[in-house]
Amino acid sequence: MKGVLLSGGTGSRLRPITHTGPKQLVPVANKPVIEYAIEDLEAAGITEIGVVLGHKGREEIQELLGDGSKYGVDITYIVQGNPVGLAHAVGCAREFVDDSDFVVYLGDNMLRHGVSDLLESFKTGDYGAGIALQEVSNPEAFGVADVDEQGTVTRLVEKPDDPPSNLALIGMYVFSPTVFDVIDRLEPSWRGELEITDAIQLLLDDGHAIDSHVVTGWWKDTGKPEDILEANRLVLGDKDLKMIGVIEEGAETDGRIELAESAVIEDGAVVRGPVSIAENTTIKSGTYVGPYTSIGANSTLEGIHIENSVVIGGSEITANGRIVDSLLGRNANVESADELLPEGRRLVVGENSQLKL
Ligand code: DAU
Repeated sequence: MKGVLLSGGTGSRLRPITHTGPKQLVPVANKPVIEYAIEDLEAAGITEIGVVLGHKGREEIQELLGDGSKYGVDITYIVQGNPVGLAHAVGCAREFVDDSDFVVYLGDNMLRHGVSDLLESFKTGDYGAGIALQEVSNPEAFGVADVDEQGTVTRLVEKPDDPPSNLALIGMYVFSPTVFDVIDRLEPSWRGELEITDAIQLLLDDGHAIDSHVVTGWWKDTGKPEDILEANRLVLGDKDLKMIGVIEEGAETDGRIELAESAVIEDGAVVRGPVSIAENTTIKSGTYVGPYTSIGANSTLEGIHIENSVVIGGSEITANGRIVDSLLGRNANVESADELLPEGRRLVVGENSQLKL
């Protein structure tokens, strides 16, 4: 079994954060989203992984993942170019996949329990594809499956106006190489893309059985800023957090805190976990870092009250207001203007931005 990790796309819903970098590199609990996918595949015993790249952020993704050896996997890069659909991206991996069954993992999706159960379920029968499903309250935003009382998949439809069920297709699939034959026959959808959902419908039309597996642990498509914040909450809520950095005497800390090497919580600062603070970051006196916040590397926070937020890294935040539910891009700086409003501000700030509050 091989793995195909899709990392193209434009990340338009995460702008301005993705103006300069790919969405798969946005960190959740100080780890890029795409690394969670690689680790899930490795944990399921998949060590041959094809990473499909678009134009955007190609070099950065390759620089981060390298040849895969640091994750215990072997990575082959496949270039898709323009993001003209998930089925097109999968089609680009045909040579890499060859005659093997394979897992497709969407590089911006995160799954609490990984892909092992989906794989085991697929292996129990003779299926053209295996899909992972989860009940959602807004099925019109996803691919949706209609499943009968026996659990048989009868129909699939991409982002329907009138969803046949509330079972969304989540971003993991298993395929046999037969899928390449149907991809060749696909027509672009209303959004101009070759849809993987339509490819699976064609497999059904051709008489192949489709295995479905309902995922019970949390799943997050990290396409929008609020999704990144929620994924960050979910991971910090679960993760084993290690404290390696320095907590000065006089600093007030409680709850679970991840503090990387050379990170410092200074005398007079308050940090309430779950929180993750990356390398070389300093939380200065008079600062409050509240629950479900991740502060990326090489940042300095002074005087701010911040909670339920993600600071990607390289930031100087010296405002003494309150920032909540916010996503701050790399090297974004926030300082105080003369007048301050006391209530919490919600911010989404792009890379290299300067902001006066
Ligand atoms: O998140 C689950 C949903 O993912 C499914 O319910 C939908 O059926 C499926 O179509 C997909 O919908 P999205 O509209 O959210 O897909 P998105 O464009 O965000 O792309 C998902 C990932 O695939 C992302 O990591 C970018 C990558 N990608 C996307 C396209 C369109 C590529 O590598 N190449 C592409 O051409």
